[in-house]
Amino acid sequence: MSEIVRVEHLKKYFPVQKSVLEQLFTRKKKSVRAVDDVTFSIKKGEIFTLAGESGCGKTTTGKLIVRLLKPTSGRIYFKGEDITQLKREELRLLRRKMQIIFQDPYASLNPRMTIGKAIGHPLEIHGLARGEEKKGKVLEVLQKVGLTPPQQFMNLFPHQLSGGQRQRVALGRSIILEPEFMVADEPVSMIDVSLRTTIIDLMLGFRKELGLTYLFVTHDLAVAKYISDRIAIMYLGRIIEIGSKESLFKNPLHPYTKALLSAIPVPEPKKKREVIELKGEVPSAINIPPGCRFSSRCPFKKDECTKTEPELVEAEKDHSVACYLS
Ligand SMILES: Nc1ncnc2c1ncn2[C@@H]1O[C@H](COP(=O)(O)OP(=O)(O)O)[C@@H](O)[C@H]1O
Ligand SMILES: [Mg+2]
Repeated sequence: MSEIVRVEHLKKYFPVQKSVLEQLFTRKKKSVRAVDDVTFSIKKGEIFTLAGESGCGKTTTGKLIVRLLKPTSGRIYFKGEDITQLKREELRLLRRKMQIIFQDPYASLNPRMTIGKAIGHPLEIHGLARGEEKKGKVLEVLQKVGLTPPQQFMNLFPHQLSGGQRQRVALGRSIILEPEFMVADEPVSMIDVSLRTTIIDLMLGFRKELGLTYLFVTHDLAVAKYISDRIAIMYLGRIIEIGSKESLFKNPLHPYTKALLSAIPVPEPKKKREVIELKGEVPSAINIPPGCRFSSRCPFKKDECTKTEPELVEAEKDHSVACYLS
C-alpha cells in the first residue's frame, strides 16, 4: 500500500500568557506542548487511529495535518508533497482532497442554512456545480449518508434533526467533494450510544465506496478496536506506542497502553487480564515531566526513566514502543 499522509517531527506549542509575577521574575517563555515531536505515516485506504486520554494532543494533530493550524516545527506530506508551508490559494485546493469532521456537528453547521444548502455549499465555494447539477449531487449525497427520502431533508434546518442525523449532514458535506483523506475527530462521541455503530459503519462503507483513507481520533479504545487497522497511543503530545490493531491489543507493551486496555469492559470476564491502575492525574502540558513523560504515573518507574526520554523502538513487526522497560 502506498503512503498518503506522513508527518515528521511534528510539533505544536501554544504560547501561554504569564502572570505579572512570572513576567517580572522569569524571562523564559511558557508554552503548552500540545504536540511534541510526532512522526507517523498513513497508508492509502487504511484507518489509522490516534487514541489517548483527553488533552493528549489528538485534535491538534488532526488539525495540523489538514492545515487548520500551523505547526511550530516539523513536516507534513500529502501524497508525497510537502504541504507544511502552503499558502491560502494552495490550501483551498488541498481542502478538496482533505476534509475534517468534528465531534459536535451542531457547532459546525450554520443554524440558518438548510441541510440542502449546507451540503451543497462546498460545491459552490469551489465553483464545481450550480443549479440543477448541484441539487442533483446534494440529493445523491443525502441518499449516501442515509438521510432518506432525500427530498424531505433538503429544506430542513439543523435544529430540526437529531444528533445522529446532524452528524450525517456533516459527513455528507465532507464527502461531496470526493476527498481522498478524512480526519474524523471523535465523530460519534456526542451521539447516542445506540446510534454510534450505524454512523461508524456508514463511514467504514465510504472507505470502499469512495476510496477514502481515515485518520480517526478517539479517546475510546473500544471504538478504536472496532474500526482501526493501525493505532497510535498518545500521551502528553507524544506517541508512546504504535502498531497494528492486532498486535497492540494482543500484546500491549507500554504500561500506559496496558492501563487503557484494562479499563475496557471485556465480554468474557473469565479471561483474566493484567489490570494496571494509574497513579494520579495527567500532568499539565505546560510542565511535562523530565525523561519519560509518563514516568510520574508509571507503577514500574526506574531511575533511568526520569533522565532521558525514550524513543519509539520496534519491538515486533509493525509494532513500536517508547519505554525502557519493554
Ligand atoms: N488553541 C489552544 N491554545 C492553547 N492550548 C491549547 C489550544 N488547543 C489545545 N490546547 C491544549 O493542547 C493540549 C492538547 O489538546 P487537544 O489536541 O485538544 O487534545 P485532545 O484532542 O487529545 O483532547 C491540551 O493541553 C489543550 O489544553
Ligand atoms: Mg480532541
